[in-house]
Amino acid sequence: MRLLVTRPGSSPALSLVFAMVVAAGCAGGSSPQASGTAEGSAASPSPALRDIAGSRQIGTAVDLPQLKTDTRYAEILAREFNSVTPENALKWERMEPARGSFNWGGADEIVTFAQAHGQKVRGHVLVWHSQLPGWLNGGGFSGAELREILQNHIATEVGRYAGEIYAWDVVNEPFADDGTWRDTIWLRGLGQGYVADALRWAHAADPGAKLYLNDYDIEGINAKSDAMYELVKSLKAQGVPLDGVGFQAHYDLANPFPSDVAGNLKRFADLGIEVAFTELDARFKLPVTESALARQATYYGQTVAACLAVPACVGVTVWEFTDKYSWVPGFFAGKGAACLYDENLVPKPAYGAALAALAAQAP
Ligand code: XIL
Repeated sequence: MRLLVTRPGSSPALSLVFAMVVAAGCAGGSSPQASGTAEGSAASPSPALRDIAGSRQIGTAVDLPQLKTDTRYAEILAREFNSVTPENALKWERMEPARGSFNWGGADEIVTFAQAHGQKVRGHVLVWHSQLPGWLNGGGFSGAELREILQNHIATEVGRYAGEIYAWDVVNEPFADDGTWRDTIWLRGLGQGYVADALRWAHAADPGAKLYLNDYDIEGINAKSDAMYELVKSLKAQGVPLDGVGFQAHYDLANPFPSDVAGNLKRFADLGIEVAFTELDARFKLPVTESALARQATYYGQTVAACLAVPACVGVTVWEFTDKYSWVPGFFAGKGAACLYDENLVPKPAYGAALAALAAQAP
């Protein structure tokens, strides 16, 4: 476990952001109205998302450059969300850029910010095929070596944040779009048993952490979510420590909203696990139009409502809350504007829909 860092964090830049957020009265501050203002920070009587989320998590991905430099970003992050997921800081290429050499600085800063603002931290990600360092991808390791490398990575990373990171995406995206196993260095080197092994190693490193499998396009019932369902069933039958499934929820408005999302969540919950939306965003083909924003709002509203309809759904995390820092334009040519807030940090109709869905079921 890491030594607890004294607030407000280790870097002068983050200290400055922290001081300004405190000065702005973030903790009990008011939230901008869904209609917003040019500044996007006008006081209004409406509550922040986290104020009406009850015991549910309303979270966001967060990355370091913006957290360190953008005070308005940090202010909204602290005010609106009760959970954060490091967007890149815990990934293998950042965390273990050279074999056996771990780089804690970035993740520590995010964890420290979260602790200072009463936010949970979701850990993302331990086993994935993407964002691996060159030494690992191109290393030509034998199965036995790969196993040792993976076990050490999981034990070190999970052990470091034991008691501080409440849940881990232990395995991300194990399936291809048709529901067959994704061809990765892990599957090739270790066989399908890598999933159970990774979960067991994570559990050994922090028996208190909630351990998740996470994937995209499994929000509705389809071949891929069926494959995930069968995997969960089999792992539970073997007594493997698995606590939850994360549904990424990266939507594209070119596709209809998946049918019976709540029913799908429920069938997973019935296997004795918790569920969560872990990376919600809803992209569309630019330019931004009012009708696209209105349609996007329904995707956000329906996702929050689906979670609230299922007691085992612990919450909804968005994959960055502002278009200013969204991954979407860099990965989907011509698409964007996928987040709750626009590039000027003004809340969009999607924010209003998420707030309304929470409010509809707030106690
Ligand atoms: C993305 C990040 O948002 C980008 O900053 C990074 O360059 C690539 O990865 N599914 C996942 C996330 O599980 O880790 C991805 O995050 C988005 C898709």
